Amino acid sequence: MQDTQTIFASRFLEDVVDGLSARPKTLPCKYFYDELGSDLFEQITKTPEYYPTRTETRLLESLAGDLAALVGPRARLVEYGAGALLKTRILLDAFEAPAAYVPMDVSAAFLQQSASDLSVEYPALEVTPVVGSFLDPDLAIDIPGGPGRALGFFPGSTIGNLDDAEINLFLQKAGEDLGPDGWFLLGVDVNQDPSSLIPAYNDKAGVTAAFNKNILKRIRHELGGSLNLDAFRHEARWNAAQSRMEMHLVSLSDQTISVAGHRFSFREGESIHTENSRKFSLKQIRALARDAGWDVHHLWQSPDDRFAVTLLARDGQMR
Ligand code: SAH
Ligand code: AVI
Repeated sequence: MQDTQTIFASRFLEDVVDGLSARPKTLPCKYFYDELGSDLFEQITKTPEYYPTRTETRLLESLAGDLAALVGPRARLVEYGAGALLKTRILLDAFEAPAAYVPMDVSAAFLQQSASDLSVEYPALEVTPVVGSFLDPDLAIDIPGGPGRALGFFPGSTIGNLDDAEINLFLQKAGEDLGPDGWFLLGVDVNQDPSSLIPAYNDKAGVTAAFNKNILKRIRHELGGSLNLDAFRHEARWNAAQSRMEMHLVSLSDQTISVAGHRFSFREGESIHTENSRKFSLKQIRALARDAGWDVHHLWQSPDDRFAVTLLARDGQMR
């Protein structure tokens, strides 16, 4: 029988071969996140240019009291793409006797460490981490039972890394995970201004560049890829037509790389498209939620209107 690590490596290889064989070349952004990638993401959130984390954190701090009153005691929280669990603490500190917390993430070692640190700080909380992809329709999210409300939490505008079809499947699956009385707290970047977006994805210290290149580092280390990290440069592009930031790795020369016997040729200037970070309008969020069976119960916006946090309830269950 194959172990989980072997299955993961063969899936990673399959995704790399598919992505680098496509035109234009692409790689799934979930592969940024191993332990180093998760740590680099945390460093990005501390750069002066990357405003989303700071803005959303302040907004969560200001809305947490109102949210706690709406959600009620003994809440059971499920966080999708949980990361370092820093925003989680804002909710846990505001809620009355939160009962359970299910953090889920693809970055296994980082998740286990973050969850074990959190358990020490919140000894009364039942913490049950789940490793996997939130895009996997078969991933089991078992929420401990109890009288409190189940609340999904998807901060960071991670939803912006998904396309419409993925959002629809994800929000529907979250609805099934959380049950008919479950609610969903979603953080969304609504900034449309490239003058602040481009630096946010291309910080002066080069942390985002290292984060982007971590996907190449993983191909080299985990799949034995033969490639030179310095032969590619990080590029952040604003795609106005699609209202999204894009990250690319641009080949600095004509070159061929090889991964597990597969060879991929690049022309100078050709890119691998590694991530989309969509920037939504409030109207779009409402429509995406509605299409997946959710209604907007509450909406909070940051004072600078760059970020929104919305509380969703299942269609017709707004009480
Ligand atoms: N929630 C945190 C972290 C956001 S970074 C915050 O708001 O600051 C995005 C997180 O989602 C990372 O921890 C990454 O490992 C995780 N992630 C990315 N793609 C994923 C996927 N397909 N399934 C599960 N987790 C994913
Ligand atoms: C996790 N995700 C929402 C971040 C984003 O802004 O798309 C990841 C990131 N990419 C570059 N910087 C940060």
